[in-house]
Amino acid sequence: MTAQTNLKAPKAPKIIVFDSGLGGLTVYRELRAALPDAHYLYIADTDAFPYGNLHKDELVTRLLALFDRLIERENPDVCVIACNTASTIALATLREHFDVPFIGTVPAIKVAAGQSSSKLFSVLATPSTVAQDYTQDLVERYASSCEVTLVGSRDLAGLAEQFMRGEKLDEDLLHHEIAPAFVEKGDERTDCIALGCTHYPLLVDLMRKVAPWPVAYIDPAAAIARQTNKVLSQSNMQKHVAIASTANQLLYTGGDGIGENMSTFLQAMGLNDVTQDEILGG
Ligand code: DGL
Repeated sequence: MTAQTNLKAPKAPKIIVFDSGLGGLTVYRELRAALPDAHYLYIADTDAFPYGNLHKDELVTRLLALFDRLIERENPDVCVIACNTASTIALATLREHFDVPFIGTVPAIKVAAGQSSSKLFSVLATPSTVAQDYTQDLVERYASSCEVTLVGSRDLAGLAEQFMRGEKLDEDLLHHEIAPAFVEKGDERTDCIALGCTHYPLLVDLMRKVAPWPVAYIDPAAAIARQTNKVLSQSNMQKHVAIASTANQLLYTGGDGIGENMSTFLQAMGLNDVTQDEILGG
């Protein structure tokens, strides 16, 4: 009689990282640093970019349909919504609907409130994210001792995508988009800006250049990577760590897609396999 073993073959965790475009790469970058051996599937819903201009109900319906297909086909261990707009609108619904753990990205308002000495800080996000109850609740819950300016920018996510394509940016437009986040009140002025859109960390160096004065820019990406690590450890995935046998992949749903000129940027992130996915886009 042969002894039967119940040992599972080591398996690298499979992580879906999701955004409307390529802004979620700022989260993917931190995830890869924290969990280098995981297998990543980056989904860019380029067919509906930018989410910041979509109606709330339309976005929830779209995300439910998309994750239905994605989870059934890919069987991920965890889904990271690397998009503040999608997280503040649909995270609760996604968690209710699916058994897979979902990790969201929301503006780091608690961190900014703790870090601001002037007690004047701003949240720079898409118009949709700043308008959500979720964001307003974070302000009420964690920043009651501060004066918080919520700034919804229509153009910054698009500027970040231009930046990734290697195009020269209009610095006057960038200044115009961030200027409302810089507030002076008596002797005090804004000293922190919580970046509430995953596209924006890509522009931080340029923001520093055109900003009226220096401030701290707060990016939640590293905290999201830590949280993902924690969720995977709790579900025992870390015990099965092995080097992922499949290369990381980027799938996009349509629209303007991912231009050739993005390839240098993507290769630097270890994403050589970039494909349009008809099923997800359909
Ligand atoms: N990267 C997305 C976010 O974090 C937004 C960009 C868009 O408007 O689609 O909110």
